[in-house]
Amino acid sequence: MNFSARTAALRICALMLLSFASFTAPSFGQGAGHAHGKQAAKPTGPWMNTSLSPDDRAALVLKELTLDEKILLIHGAGLEGMTPISPTRINSNGGVGFVMGIPRLGIPGIDMSDAAYGVRSSGENGRYSTALPANVGAAASWDVDAAYEYGAVIGRELRAQGFNMSLGGGTNLTRESRNGRTFEYLGEDPVLAGTLVGKLIQGTQSQHVIGDIKHYAFNDQESGRNSVNIHIDERAGRESDLLAFEIGVATGHPAATMCSYNRINGDFACENKYLLTTLLKKDWKFPGFVLSDWGGTHSTEKASAAGLDNEEPGEFFYGDAYKTAVQSGKISTAELDDHVQRILRSMFAAGVVDFPRERSVIDVLGDLDVARRIEEGSIVLLKNTKSVLPLDPAKVRSIAVIGAHADVGMISGGGSAQVDPPGGNAIMPPGQGATHWQEQIWFPTSPLKAIQARAPEASVKYDPGTDPAAAAEAAKGADVAVVFAYVWESEGMDLPNLSLTGNQDAVVAAVAAANPKTIVVLETGSPVTMPWVDSPAAILEAWYAGSDGANALGNVLFGSVNPSGKLPNTFPKSEADLPHPTIVKPPPASENFTGPVAPAVRAAGLPAFQATYDEGLKVGYKWYDAENKPVLFPFGYGLSYTTYDYTGLTVTPGQSVEVTFTVANTGGRNGSEVAEVYAALPASADEPPKRLVGFTKVKLQTGEKRTVTVEVDPKYLSIFDVKKNDWSLVPGDYTFMVGGSSADLPLKQVVTLR
Ligand code: BGC
Repeated sequence: MNFSARTAALRICALMLLSFASFTAPSFGQGAGHAHGKQAAKPTGPWMNTSLSPDDRAALVLKELTLDEKILLIHGAGLEGMTPISPTRINSNGGVGFVMGIPRLGIPGIDMSDAAYGVRSSGENGRYSTALPANVGAAASWDVDAAYEYGAVIGRELRAQGFNMSLGGGTNLTRESRNGRTFEYLGEDPVLAGTLVGKLIQGTQSQHVIGDIKHYAFNDQESGRNSVNIHIDERAGRESDLLAFEIGVATGHPAATMCSYNRINGDFACENKYLLTTLLKKDWKFPGFVLSDWGGTHSTEKASAAGLDNEEPGEFFYGDAYKTAVQSGKISTAELDDHVQRILRSMFAAGVVDFPRERSVIDVLGDLDVARRIEEGSIVLLKNTKSVLPLDPAKVRSIAVIGAHADVGMISGGGSAQVDPPGGNAIMPPGQGATHWQEQIWFPTSPLKAIQARAPEASVKYDPGTDPAAAAEAAKGADVAVVFAYVWESEGMDLPNLSLTGNQDAVVAAVAAANPKTIVVLETGSPVTMPWVDSPAAILEAWYAGSDGANALGNVLFGSVNPSGKLPNTFPKSEADLPHPTIVKPPPASENFTGPVAPAVRAAGLPAFQATYDEGLKVGYKWYDAENKPVLFPFGYGLSYTTYDYTGLTVTPGQSVEVTFTVANTGGRNGSEVAEVYAALPASADEPPKRLVGFTKVKLQTGEKRTVTVEVDPKYLSIFDVKKNDWSLVPGDYTFMVGGSSADLPLKQVVTLR
């Protein structure tokens, strides 16, 4: 949603409302640290007894609330450009969402900020936040500890800036590789995405910040996201996107879930009883609250009955309209109370009542260090002919750095995930770098400088890479050419194809033809096609590399860090191989909303258009495997500067299946290997050839070997049996396969499970 101009408008509204609001509502920090640093009086009341459970504490507060106070908790305070601004918004911390608390009872407001790969909109609030590598990059690390740290940085920086709720946790699977938000998500596999988002949420919530998981569910493309009606059958849904959410909820215990914009099998996600109540709240026992994506609420009674607890960002349906519905008996008090109870219990569970926010100085250096380390573990080495990498600074005399603004910065992903770079957009003149909605933002982390710093004796020259002939000329005379190429992507759009933007394919091809030691560095969120793949000596995928991306990349290029990332998404050979070679696009009448939309229009929603996900559960590698389509680079693939050897597989069935094996570092460098465990189900299960059932990242010194055990949850070996309405293990022979890529699994063992 576009609200680039919102700050000015908000400030004007805020000033106009100030006098009114000061009589009707307390200042920011009631029940939280005071804005001016003074600690507000500690809230009192029986609900402050921390030996009680969050549910019991919430119930005690609920008993005290008037109808108006309850209504206040179930909607946001408005956002210019989308909804009217309510007077209570004056107390907000300047984030994208705000729910007024109950100051008289010491219940703070909920101050929400987008925070996918860092805290959003810090620039317009005059603050700093660290950009971590894009979420898809974090997924490429396959590292649960790094995912936790990633979430913890976000939680810490939110708190330091005065927020107590994160809008992050993107978990939609890469079902459509051209989805403009692929960079915000965690890849194409439900076990990988669900496990990592769970760890990320744990990290965020460890900082006493409410964490969320989004966009629930099947918001797998941006084209027509407000109107598309996704058709998918139940088993396929449960075993793909919904499994990722199920694992994420079970692992991360998010206090909140954000329902998505789209329709699923007829109903909007935010009024879809099957999704919100049957699955999430009953089957998965999610005790938290469901909030709508911004403008994703379309009704009062239907949404409430379906299980939507909180309308964001305003109160078209959950303000006066809700109150009237309760007063007229159309909605029962018990139903309202359930929504309120869930919101309150989440606040207690996440600790936002007991540990009030205190604004503080962000640990810029510490968080940059985390961002760099996570990027170092996320970069994927796709090709390394004749070990051209790592570069030896003692031997390289000249380096041509080409393309993608590599002299000044590295690109980031756009939309509501956008983190603002310190000093502004690196490709703009100083002082003109404010960020705007859907503008390409480059972080001031310069690969050119990082390379020069690591090869101080070498002559390092830059060519912008705009003209293939000039780029080739620059590459020709150098010992090594490092050519950077990018695809920018953002919320609110899908990519037209999987090619590098503009003439970059021609530039890369020309550089690789001119210099046999060409190293390609990709900065993309989605997979890209590579018509030139055979020519360069080396290819690295650096994703959107975050605030300190250039140093991470420099360390990998020169070998002080051994690359260990593995692809969380398959790179196909061409768009023709995708499940939907042409993306399903909305007719003009169903294009996305732009600008403010009247309640009646929102209630009706845009006319639905249909998208049938008939590939079903065959998302990503499951599709390419089942359809026998060769790929460019497979899921789970990534090289290292050392070599690993796998031996000694033992599979022991039990409560969970234990998969034990030994990984050895047989090469000349220390490193970390992502060991992947897949299973092929019995033929009668009618499943794709294999599925990921577990993984672990093993750190190994050169010559070291380690025996590890991966515990496989029986659910990951099961199918969803629609008739039984439950997960079911199909009796028969299971082939367990272990190795370093979905396409290279040297260890195999068949076990009979029943
Ligand atoms: C996005 C959400 C985001 C929300 C608030 C929506 O347009 O889909 O991911 O959290 O806006 O900015």
